[in-house]
Amino acid sequence: MDNPLIIALDFANGSETAKFLKPFEGQKLFVKIGMELFYQEGPSIVHQIKESGHQIFLDLKLHDIPNTVKSAMKGLARLQCDLVNVHASGGKDMMQAALEGLDAGTSAGSERPRCIAVTQLTSTSQEQMNNEQLIPVSLNESVLHYAGLTQEAGLDGVVCSAWEAGMIREKLGQSFLTVCPGIRMQDDQTQDQKRVATPEFARETGVSAIVVGRSITRADDPLKSYQKWIEVWKGVNE
Ligand code: C5P
Repeated sequence: MDNPLIIALDFANGSETAKFLKPFEGQKLFVKIGMELFYQEGPSIVHQIKESGHQIFLDLKLHDIPNTVKSAMKGLARLQCDLVNVHASGGKDMMQAALEGLDAGTSAGSERPRCIAVTQLTSTSQEQMNNEQLIPVSLNESVLHYAGLTQEAGLDGVVCSAWEAGMIREKLGQSFLTVCPGIRMQDDQTQDQKRVATPEFARETGVSAIVVGRSITRADDPLKSYQKWIEVWKGVNE
């Protein structure tokens, strides 16, 4: 992955998505299709977006018993997305089953989608993790533990906040992907996100990819906003 900025297409349906993508015609984007859009439109939205030449992160965060995740991933592999994911808290067996499913569903000669695992959601605070999940360690320790487990299972990387990416890269190597949502410009609202970081910080800490949703999708001029984000993310003006 060439350090993409991944736009989270968090829209209610295909027509809203098409309206958003219209001004980007001719450009090759890296987009994320999440639960909201996929549950509404199903695989056809993936086919449509692939036809426009965009790369796709299918963000369905699978978390179930290993056998179910394996079968589901076998089906998802046939959609030929670039990136898919699971929750690391589903365990090592579940993550290995996800990979087996992806391998089984990838046709000969094609590349299997990369698979990453969510460590702790970027909307989770240390307090919530301690009190609600009853995980009695620091957030960093939990994220690092899940990242290690993910690597042991053979996955390609993790979803984490930019605050944890540096320590993950240091501990688990530079080629282990760190895909980071919860990215906001300095003056943006954080909304429901808790562990937010700026694109400059994300770049400096060496994250593999940033995921940006509402700051672009809800902007008055999404194309202009995207261009501004790309400049900051790539450090164009420095
Ligand atoms: O609008 P915003 O930039 O907060 O969007 C972030 C996107 O990244 C959302 O689509 C959300 O589902 C996703 N995400 C996240 N935290 C994770 C994993 C995915 O915010 N740990």
